[in-house]
Amino acid sequence: MRNTLVSLLLLAGLTPLMAADKVVGGPLVVNVTARTATVVWIVQSDEAVMKTADGSEVHNAPLLHSESARFTGLKAGNRYQYEVPGRPDLKGSFKTPPAGEGQFEFVVYGDTRTRHDVHRKVIAALLEHCHPDFAVQTGDLVNDGGDPALWPIFFEIERDLLRQVAYYPALGNHERHSHNYSDFMQAAPYYSFNWGNAHFAILDTDLGNAAPSELARQTYWKEQTDWLASDLEKNQKAAFRFVAGHHPPMTAVSNRQGDNPHMIALTPLLEQYHVTAAFFGHDHNYQHYLKNGIHYVITGGGGAPLYDVDKPPEGITQKVASTENFVRVRVDGKKANVEAITPDGTTIDEFELEGGSRESAAAAH
Ligand SMILES: [Fe+2]
Repeated sequence: MRNTLVSLLLLAGLTPLMAADKVVGGPLVVNVTARTATVVWIVQSDEAVMKTADGSEVHNAPLLHSESARFTGLKAGNRYQYEVPGRPDLKGSFKTPPAGEGQFEFVVYGDTRTRHDVHRKVIAALLEHCHPDFAVQTGDLVNDGGDPALWPIFFEIERDLLRQVAYYPALGNHERHSHNYSDFMQAAPYYSFNWGNAHFAILDTDLGNAAPSELARQTYWKEQTDWLASDLEKNQKAAFRFVAGHHPPMTAVSNRQGDNPHMIALTPLLEQYHVTAAFFGHDHNYQHYLKNGIHYVITGGGGAPLYDVDKPPEGITQKVASTENFVRVRVDGKKANVEAITPDGTTIDEFELEGGSRESAAAAH
């Protein structure tokens, strides 16, 4: 595919950075469609300090906010460069999705919240072994989304990845539904997007932090699953339907089995609307299941402490491994290759996906 390189200058309508302001996150590119994209960066304007009267205990909290520039009128299948003139720390590039069928690559990974040294190794290996057009993060980006001190660490480690991909995150329970997440990622709790011939629905599976009462949580989940059914129904012509979220419906971690009943109850809907594959995190390991035609992949190996895979579910297990990992998906027309890769570059699982519009499948029979 021919990619025209186009430069975008982030000039109009921006508030000039004040002298004390420091960019501590991004730039990253979110909400990318064939025609639009938003470039975001995180600014620290000051730092608050709290301490005990005798000064024996001191806490610092950076004051953070996001700044962004939204671009419209873009064209499909282009790589765009962006920059703020005079600010070498605010530049990068990204691709817009191809129009219709094409070749593209994306990565899926998650649970980057702790063990920053391991998170750093995972990102370095990902950049060495992948050339993604976009990244899907399955949640638990940081250990506590409400703690502003953690986000600059996350952004520093992810810096080189974020400067070259479109970014599509999912809420994990450790984001705590915090304002920081929605501000920095400029993401709705759940949303969908298209990339070429593939459709993606990103879920908010974190009901625990979604609402204060059980009734409100049930209402929220009903609204979301109604939206998901409608969203998938409208995209039956896509060659691939992918779903991503944080909490998985099944697991090989024995003391977590049955933990997410709302996700277990969701699987018939995924089957009804012919989801190709569903990606999750939350369990810090790699797991791959095939159940009623849907591939379920758990890739929660981005840095958080590893969990055992001591009780793989019978009859559906394809591969489980207690290791850090990320997943690379290469789509070529109606075929896709999926590889799970460890930070040392070892492929621990590989499988193929057959795509195809459900309408064309029905016509063939
Ligand atoms: Fe989690």
